[in-house]
Amino acid sequence: MMLCVIPNLLFLMSSLSSLTFIDTENVNVQEKLFLSSMGLSSRPKPSHQAPVPSLLWKLFEKGSTQTSTSDTDPCVVSEYGVRGNIVRFIQDQGSLISAPAVHCFNCVRKHLFFNMSVLEDVEQLSFAQLEMKFKQDLAHLGPHVFSVDLYRVLRTTLKGVTHESSRKLLLSQSLGPGAHASVHINLTDLAETWRKPGKNYGMQVELQLKHLSNMLQEDAYVESTHSAVQIAQMPELYTSLVVVSLNPLQCRSRRKRSAAYYLPVTPSNVCKPRRLYIDFKDVGWQDWIIAPQGYLANYCHGECPFPLSESLNGTNHAILQTLVHSFDPKGTPQPCCVPIKLSPISMLYYDNNDNVVLRHYEDMVVDECGCR
Ligand SMILES: *[C@@H]1O[C@H](CO)[C@@H](O)[C@H](O)[C@H]1NC(C)=O
Ligand SMILES: *[C@@H]1O[C@H](CO)[C@@H](O)[C@H](O)[C@H]1NC(C)=O
Ligand SMILES: *[C@@H]1O[C@H](CO)[C@@H](O)[C@H](O)[C@H]1NC(C)=O
Repeated sequence: MMLCVIPNLLFLMSSLSSLTFIDTENVNVQEKLFLSSMGLSSRPKPSHQAPVPSLLWKLFEKGSTQTSTSDTDPCVVSEYGVRGNIVRFIQDQGSLISAPAVHCFNCVRKHLFFNMSVLEDVEQLSFAQLEMKFKQDLAHLGPHVFSVDLYRVLRTTLKGVTHESSRKLLLSQSLGPGAHASVHINLTDLAETWRKPGKNYGMQVELQLKHLSNMLQEDAYVESTHSAVQIAQMPELYTSLVVVSLNPLQCRSRRKRSAAYYLPVTPSNVCKPRRLYIDFKDVGWQDWIIAPQGYLANYCHGECPFPLSESLNGTNHAILQTLVHSFDPKGTPQPCCVPIKLSPISMLYYDNNDNVVLRHYEDMVVDECGCR
């Protein structure tokens, strides 16, 4: 007897939730397919659960409360006014530079590196923004401010030894008790060049402690004998890169979620959507999927009997197949009860590099079924 084909995800989820028989090999293949459609090479194993940036929570909550009447395009990130269905917070992998610098007294230098290869080739980068902020507040600074100089590194340098010709100043700003304690910089163009292999040398940031009264005299820095103490006071700098991109293959025309969310509970053997709540814990994915913890996915099940009524949304072919089936039940199976309308959800998760990612993901919820 011929089996009806169940779509990838539902097959995977239901197998893993042991709703159907477990075929381990098939489950592994299905899991790999699902992960690769999320741009993941394998099931992520976050080394630590990095905190979820509040902006991503906000976007996630906004995405999941969209009702059937709202016509916000799921493939636009309205916060930045750009097209996209993936928002990543890419962690900085650079480290402190310990080599001495000629023009940098009372100064901490750090290399910044954002691994852009987490973006797949198919993705179109639409926006990238660097955020730098101090982990502590700067009230203890007293009469001091920090000057922040950000450089793009143009070529590889011998361990931390930087020649001015191998870097380019992008920004120079003061941060202090009276000023904003964070900096945002639009790095869209630079991030795009970083996607080319061998083109990402990262950036350097120099934090220099300056006495307020000396701010106007360029070279009058705090005496260097105090520098060890002062550098120890340097607050920790947190840097991250927000990257918005669009995977056009996962962004079809906008569709409204139908009322099938509230499925009728009338018992019937006829083809229709059935309630299925998928808990990611049952699938063993709770350590890398941050939210939702589960969702109402539903599935299609039931007979496609002769004569096929209009409400079963049969194709002409399915109508003929039920007719033939009624004459020859052994030789020709009934048509299959399959999803004909699916809707998306948003997911917040850790990728293989511990970055927090918000992704709009198509075809996750069965809204309507039909006989095919
Ligand atoms: C960047 O990430 C990719 C894929 O996740 C990895 O293969 C590569 O080694 C990483 N590069 C660096 C410099 O960390
Ligand atoms: C960021 O920079 C890009 C390229 O320079 C520009 O097209 C875009 O409008 C900027 N976006 C914002 C939000 O400033
Ligand atoms: C068939 O489609 C209609 C709307 O197009 C829908 O209301 C109905 O629930 C669908 N039938 C099934 C079995 O899902």
